[in-house]
Amino acid sequence: MSSLRVLISADQIQSRIRELGAQIDRDMPVGPIYMIAILKGACFFLSDLARAVKTPVRIEFMGISSYGKGKTSSGEVKLTKDLDVSVEGYDVIVVEDIVDSGITLSYLMKVLAQRKPKSLRIATLLDKPTHRQRPVEVHYRGFEIPDEFVVGYGLDYAEDYRNLPDICVLSGV
Ligand code: IMP
Ligand code: MG
Repeated sequence: MSSLRVLISADQIQSRIRELGAQIDRDMPVGPIYMIAILKGACFFLSDLARAVKTPVRIEFMGISSYGKGKTSSGEVKLTKDLDVSVEGYDVIVVEDIVDSGITLSYLMKVLAQRKPKSLRIATLLDKPTHRQRPVEVHYRGFEIPDEFVVGYGLDYAEDYRNLPDICVLSGV
């Protein structure tokens, strides 16, 4: 039987995002900043983070698939949706829900660096460093978490649980 246990509450998420927003404002007082969310998991984080920042923000989406339906990476990365605009000469923050192996983001950062942004940084809500296979430089990190499979606040298991307000550990699946 599957069970859910709250790891990070909705309130904790919001207060951490306010801190990250203030940090981004200090680092980048002049906009616009392009915040690029990786579909689909980073949607909620993007929408809260963008509103926690006072510097003007433009939002974009990219689609990447590296995981199948299960809990483990297939090791393959595919671009399923590209940007609608050029980000050349702009400050860019890639917004991700969680960095695990680092395969997704190391691939994406290579792709985006070729687009010649003025700056290119990563904001991730969660960092699960235990199984890192590729180095990833994270500028804005919400929480470091232990090696557990988590769902909620955008994160899914086989497309379920994304709309939970808290981040929960899913076990027994
Ligand atoms: P990476 O390429 O291994 O760093 O994987 C990043 C992606 O894997 C994230 O964007 C998530 O979609 C997914 N992922 C990794 N760990 C978890 C987890 O604990 N819960 C849900 N999705 C996860
Ligand atoms: Mg994802």
